[in-house]
Amino acid sequence: MATYFETPTARTRMGTAPRLRVATWEGFMTEVLVLYYSRKGSTAELARQVCRGIESVPGAVAKLRTVPPVSAESEGPAKPVPASGPPYATLEDLRQADGLILGSPTRFGNMAAPLKYFLDCTSSLWVSGGLAGKPAGVFTSTQTIHGGQEATLLSMMLPLLHHGMYLVGLPYTERALNETAAGGTPYGASHVAGPLDEVALTDHERALAQALGKRVATLAVRLGQT
Ligand SMILES: Cc1cc2nc3c(=O)[nH]c(=O)nc-3n(C[C@H](O)[C@H](O)[C@H](O)COP(=O)(O)O)c2cc1C
Repeated sequence: MATYFETPTARTRMGTAPRLRVATWEGFMTEVLVLYYSRKGSTAELARQVCRGIESVPGAVAKLRTVPPVSAESEGPAKPVPASGPPYATLEDLRQADGLILGSPTRFGNMAAPLKYFLDCTSSLWVSGGLAGKPAGVFTSTQTIHGGQEATLLSMMLPLLHHGMYLVGLPYTERALNETAAGGTPYGASHVAGPLDEVALTDHERALAQALGKRVATLAVRLGQT
């Protein structure tokens, strides 16, 4: 069971808003928030692989959260608690996190509206600098291999840059990035789900999603030590 404490070092590092560190029986842990939207499950599966990568880093824990769907008729969540899967994210989840990894299906070469809507509600964090100086990464799933993964990943980075986050990608030193014939890009992890969204993650896609989690978590741990 994790408990949150405000620490003087965390406050100094951010310079603006006070930071909270997550404490477990093992001591203070670096928490990376994996925040995603998924309707058919592919982005959710990528999110789980990202979490595995985060938790492979000593001192790091993953926190998995999703966002509610939106519709033209209703701006808020229809239900405060999802029927299944992880809870809906709050602004406090973002503020507490030491790093953030965002995932969304590609929708016409862009992130899905529910995630965009959630990000559009983060002005108070932007004002306080609550995400500034934290590492971040992005991931997506498409139906088709040339369906706009890179465009989506790059567009997901824009609000994170406005928040002052340090963006982390995937380098070609990751063997899977050289070998993949499906998803996986230098801009972030990805999956090609096929016309019926029935294709499972390939080994390369899994490896790259884990690598993204590991890279963001490693940087978050290091930044927490400075
Ligand atoms: C409105 C809409 C727009 C979409 N646009 C694209 C697209 O531009 N390129 C693409 O390859 N797939 C597109 N798709 C398909 C989804 O990106 C794909 O099914 C994805 O794997 C779904 O992820 P999920 O299983 O996490 O919901 C679109 C789907 C919807 C509903």
